[in-house]
Amino acid sequence: MRGQVYLGAISGTSVDGLDLALVQVARRIDVLAAATRPLPEALRRSLLELGRPGADDLDRLGEADAALGEFIGTAALEFLDSNGQAPSAVTALGSHGQTVRHRPGATHPFTLQIGDPSRIAEVTGITTVADFRRRDMAAGGQGAPLVPPFHAALFRDPGESRAVLNIGGIGNFTLLPADPAAAVTGFDTGPGNALMDDWIARARQRAFDDNGDWAASGRVDESLLQRLLADPYLTTPPPKSTGREYFNLAWLQAHLDARLRERAIDDADVQATLCAFTAECAVRALVTWGPADLGRVLVCGGGRHNRALMAALAERLSCPVEPVETLGVDGDSIEAAAFAWLAHQTLNGLAGNEPAVTGARGPRVLGAVYPA
Ligand SMILES: Nc1ncnc2c1ncn2[C@@H]1O[C@H](COP(=O)(O)OP(=O)(O)OP(=O)(O)O)[C@@H](O)[C@H]1O
Ligand SMILES: [Mg+2]
Repeated sequence: MRGQVYLGAISGTSVDGLDLALVQVARRIDVLAAATRPLPEALRRSLLELGRPGADDLDRLGEADAALGEFIGTAALEFLDSNGQAPSAVTALGSHGQTVRHRPGATHPFTLQIGDPSRIAEVTGITTVADFRRRDMAAGGQGAPLVPPFHAALFRDPGESRAVLNIGGIGNFTLLPADPAAAVTGFDTGPGNALMDDWIARARQRAFDDNGDWAASGRVDESLLQRLLADPYLTTPPPKSTGREYFNLAWLQAHLDARLRERAIDDADVQATLCAFTAECAVRALVTWGPADLGRVLVCGGGRHNRALMAALAERLSCPVEPVETLGVDGDSIEAAAFAWLAHQTLNGLAGNEPAVTGARGPRVLGAVYPA
């Protein structure tokens, strides 16, 4: 095999599973294999709980950190085995872990990802690189998003200005101007699937709105939509990033309570409104900060499976809105592959952040290395 092989692992803000990707980094970047492993239910519940402000239990945090580290290590070994690869063939494993708190606006800004990398190195025998976000934050950046340089490597085209929209729990854009001299930029748009997931879990006890069918069955409530759109995050200029500690059920409930003082609202209409709001966050961001000559929007992350959301985006934009599969790339593996690439950057003494995206004072080699 030419080039070096890296493994990437991330459990995203939706806490829907651990994404793994085996990546070959040579002159080109190739994803050799990818998979998503469901998290054990008790661990998943613990991680969701820890992501909510107020659940600041240090014992729970410590145990979830250890348990997730063990799980990532074991899942990585199984993934390699099912692809006929030996751990010794992997140069390093880049682990994002699970974000349990992201507070770029705090007096002492911080971001906290768990999933003990010492345990990953111990279980797998693979050199592990982790804790990618904090160095960028220490250099004055948001610590997020970190994927834009990887999006640029995959999707930048001198013939067309593009925007890559990753719809995970939170939504994030990477803006790729056609002009090679222009900087790559990017930022979090606001909620991705987070609010829709939270609402369907509360009202219907389901993890997500399959295809967006429930949202499509409801009608957008204009009064609620306008209240949601008034959130100051939408008009805050980049660099900016956000998380589920902000856009969550408590945030929604506050707006809903105000709206319900007018008249009752159907649960499906709330879902339809959240879908419209999620799309509108992305569209307004693109209109305000996107390239004037935008040729197309490429969508990755689980939200591209939500047909109601994809339709809401297409309806509001004048250029094509397409899943990244139209360019032959698997839209579920990009985040994990990005962390494999970030491990490569770190081990080779190369910067992983893009200061034009995160607002850091400069390029930085990210993360810490836990030797095999
Ligand atoms: N068939 C589907 N229909 C509708 N929504 C879907 C479908 N499949 C996945 N999703 C949505 O995608 C979400 C998972 O997406 P993804 O894994 O990209 O998010 P994430 O793990 O939070 O990643 P990130 O780190 O980018 O936030 C699910 O929670 C769900 O809301
Ligand atoms: Mg996920």
